[in-house]
Amino acid sequence: MSPYRERKVLRMEATERIILALDVDSEKQALSLVEQLYDRVGVFKVGMQLYNSVGPGIVTRIIDLGGKVFVDLKFHDIPNTVAAAGRVMARLGAFMYNVHIAGGREMMPRAVESTAQEAGKLGKTPPRILGVTVLTSISNQQLRAEMKVNKDVDELVVEWALMARECGLAGVVASPREIIPLRKACGRDFLVVTPGVRPAWSATDDQKRITTPREALLSGADYLVIGRPILAAANPREAAERIIEELEG
Ligand code: C5P
Repeated sequence: MSPYRERKVLRMEATERIILALDVDSEKQALSLVEQLYDRVGVFKVGMQLYNSVGPGIVTRIIDLGGKVFVDLKFHDIPNTVAAAGRVMARLGAFMYNVHIAGGREMMPRAVESTAQEAGKLGKTPPRILGVTVLTSISNQQLRAEMKVNKDVDELVVEWALMARECGLAGVVASPREIIPLRKACGRDFLVVTPGVRPAWSATDDQKRITTPREALLSGADYLVIGRPILAAANPREAAERIIEELEG
């Protein structure tokens, strides 16, 4: 392989790994970011802020522009309801969506089954379903005092990830500090999607247990969720370019 070709492949890979959190209120802002960054970002994340502001049409609009979409609505409900929401995700053509692992052993396989069935009917690829373990905003102390779970967050995260894998989920969303134990427990084929990454040159904002994108990648993350380091930059495209360069090392 020529050095040029090798560099191109690496660049594509680094680009593919970036999930841009479209944490904005309007469709106009979101689509402008998609247009600026479509070839510098692998996946666009539509979370509660954007989805609840402008509705599900934003997902199809991004797909029509050629983007992949991670619908980050963290479903947590009874199995029948989450299974129905999974069918909607398949119809929308989401690339990924997520459910709370706390929804349990019955809910997760139902979501997997209904999503695959609906996608199959439509001749689409089923969205990858990710599990949310313990929210990174929850401390060990809160887990014990408020959720009445008598173990540490790190331990529960790995146990729940293993349960999610057994239930057929494609991977988990996890903090950078959990990547190594998760990778060790769940193997290479289980996706680990990591928010809370910050390039050294960027503000930390309210993220606390951060690593750089490159550190997260070297620890074994498959995808990096990045919002403000790109969104708040004077030139978002340049910021994305810098992150890609860092990832390539
Ligand atoms: O702007 P920033 O890079 O901090 O954005 C990170 C994104 O990842 C946000 O959309 C946030 O909701 C999401 N997220 C997070 N921490 C988690 C789970 C999701 O920051 N534990």
